Amino acid sequence: MPKPIVIIGSSNVDFIMKVDHLPARDETVTDAVFMQTFGGKGANQAVAAGRAGGDVIFVNCVGDDPYAERMLAGFRESGVDTDYIIRETGISSGAALVMIGEGGHNYLSVSPGANGLLTPERVDAVRDLIADAAYVLMQFEIPPASIARALDIAAEVGTPVVWNYAPANPFDITQLDKVDIVVANEPEATTLTGIQVTDITSARTAAQRLRELGARTAIITLGEAGSVVATDEDAAHIPAFPVEPLDTTAAGDTYCGCLVVALAEGQSLAEAVRFASAGGALCVQRMGAQPSIPWRDEIEAFLLAHL
Ligand code: RIB
Repeated sequence: MPKPIVIIGSSNVDFIMKVDHLPARDETVTDAVFMQTFGGKGANQAVAAGRAGGDVIFVNCVGDDPYAERMLAGFRESGVDTDYIIRETGISSGAALVMIGEGGHNYLSVSPGANGLLTPERVDAVRDLIADAAYVLMQFEIPPASIARALDIAAEVGTPVVWNYAPANPFDITQLDKVDIVVANEPEATTLTGIQVTDITSARTAAQRLRELGARTAIITLGEAGSVVATDEDAAHIPAFPVEPLDTTAAGDTYCGCLVVALAEGQSLAEAVRFASAGGALCVQRMGAQPSIPWRDEIEAFLLAHL
């Protein structure tokens, strides 16, 4: 029986405003388009992995607000096992304010809410799940101590970890040696390495640095410029699929969820990166986080159309 993918991370209620231009200080923009959808980096990655065909267990905390049950229903519809999601009382679910400006780029602020209660003790409680997993996939939207605990457990039981260092916050880089694949975008890679990542050349340097720090593989995503994938063989540049972005929210999450599904299926790293890039390319052409995440048949059709 194939082993599941265990995703440990956040879920948020996203309140989105798409604007023609971002407001300057003290300016009010009055022609915004509003959407309320569900997001959160952990949840988006769980939904992406579920829709891509993975056997996914999501470890998460939601609040006792009316959004929580709808979030859980959405996870189940995407094929995600919700048995390890805890409904906390006396606290709201995580929430995010998302502003989408020119070029579909997003500007985010997040209130952790119940995500802050995904403590190291909660991670200890899923030790057996981690031990039985094909991969553990995490982000950085839950307490850092919980990430550290999950990395320790995964290292002890020998389960590979894919870690999306997002969003960028202070992190003890000595722990990178417990990470099999680290994924970061340009600003995140800059924060993590101290190397200013602005293009393919600097991404290669930063990716190699992440490997020196202990990660077996480092992937730096560069939006429309593709990604750099550094292994012990080389630091390859993988071009992005040419698409017109409408909203980049959750593109990185879709990439990570799809990447892990492909790896868990035994696809090579190169194939998995292509599969993940296709997922991300489909995601950016739609609005919102979870509504924009593609299903497996869409990814396969897209890949066939871009041979
Ligand atoms: O990566 C996109 C996500 O970041 C959004 O859905 C928002 O909730 C924040 O967590």
